[in-house]
Amino acid sequence: MNEIVIRGARLYGEGDPVDVHVADGTIATIGEAGAVTPGEDAEVIEARGQVLLPGFVDLHTHLREPGREDTETIDSGSAAAALGGYTAVFAMANTDPVADNAVVVEHVWRRGREVGLVDVHPVGAVTVGLKGEKLAEMGTMAKSVAGVRLFSDDGHCVADPLLMRRALEYSTALGVVVAQHAEEPRLTVGAQAHEGERAARLGYTGWPSSAEESIVARDCVLARHAGARLHICHVSTTGTVDVLGWAKGLGIDVSAEVTPHHLLLTDERLATYDPVNKVNPPLRAGADVERMRRALADGVIDCVATDHAPHAVQDKDCEWAAARPGMLGLQTALSIVAETMVRPGLLDWRGVARVMSERPAEIAGLPDQGRPLAAGEPANLVLVDPDAEWTVRGAELASVAANTPYEGMRLPAVVSATLLRGRITSREGKIG
Ligand code: DOR
Repeated sequence: MNEIVIRGARLYGEGDPVDVHVADGTIATIGEAGAVTPGEDAEVIEARGQVLLPGFVDLHTHLREPGREDTETIDSGSAAAALGGYTAVFAMANTDPVADNAVVVEHVWRRGREVGLVDVHPVGAVTVGLKGEKLAEMGTMAKSVAGVRLFSDDGHCVADPLLMRRALEYSTALGVVVAQHAEEPRLTVGAQAHEGERAARLGYTGWPSSAEESIVARDCVLARHAGARLHICHVSTTGTVDVLGWAKGLGIDVSAEVTPHHLLLTDERLATYDPVNKVNPPLRAGADVERMRRALADGVIDCVATDHAPHAVQDKDCEWAAARPGMLGLQTALSIVAETMVRPGLLDWRGVARVMSERPAEIAGLPDQGRPLAAGEPANLVLVDPDAEWTVRGAELASVAANTPYEGMRLPAVVSATLLRGRITSREGKIG
């Protein structure tokens, strides 16, 4: 029997420390500290009052396999996920070849299982080749062994309203969710940075907030008429929060995510012209960042998703216009949430469990993730040292790429251990 005792952990960072006894992939008992006597072969994790949470679930990860294994693989990305406290990740479809058919999604799913560090759920493309012209075979992907439950053209917007309408209609029949990368392409031709005074002064072509907001509003209306569930990727503007509040108030079944970088970084970063800060959607103004934090705290934005986007040196260490958008996120997400939400008192650790584990698991319909910390539940867990700090070094992260915007920053909260179905996948910064 595979047995682990987590000794002296505080569930959700609340109450007195308890012992959590894990056996055969399940939380067997939770008892007073010192009360659990482990078997001789049991592995003991001394928690010393650290915070125990359900394992994190990331609805938005780019693992780059197949096609760009020079930047990330399912192996390296799974390691980054485990070290970041994740027990499930959704791998976006913008690979090469695109995950728009059963063969590719099954490959990603199978590779994830072989690596075994985190549950890798492939996201299926909404349109063939992400071209926005023709619907992909969503049904075949949903019914494949990969059991695809999330569909997205992320990186591209499903801009054609008729295609988006059809995708939403099919999604209800299939019981899956469409996640939209909300960006009206006609409004972002040549766009380089958040449209505003700073971009204008520094000479960047503006990327208007309305490009995001207009698609979010349109799709909420389409979802309402289709009776569909809709998920909005990487919300970045104040106006999008207004639209989401309006739609949720009407009972439209929409959920939304925000990235760690949109909770922390602003367009002040543009002054350096360093493409490590180039991301889609772009870093916005300080007022937008403030609004992201409040919307996440009050639930208008449902969850945090990393948009972990590894890129090769040559695609980042170049002029701004030529650089690819995106930044690493899996190993820094918890710390950024601690810095932006926990430290200022906007979320407690129970709130962190909600936005990083429970809500994303609910949105994607994962029955064994984001579960309560209780006896009989699957042991998908993360132990967090809330008082420890660490310094981010891109070269030391598990990803193949190193494009972190937090290089050299000292951040709070460290993942001490991650357990996937009762097996230790990371411990003290090391795999397994
Ligand atoms: O910054 C981004 N990078 N945003 C996206 O939507 C796609 C992603 C990527 O694939 O690199």
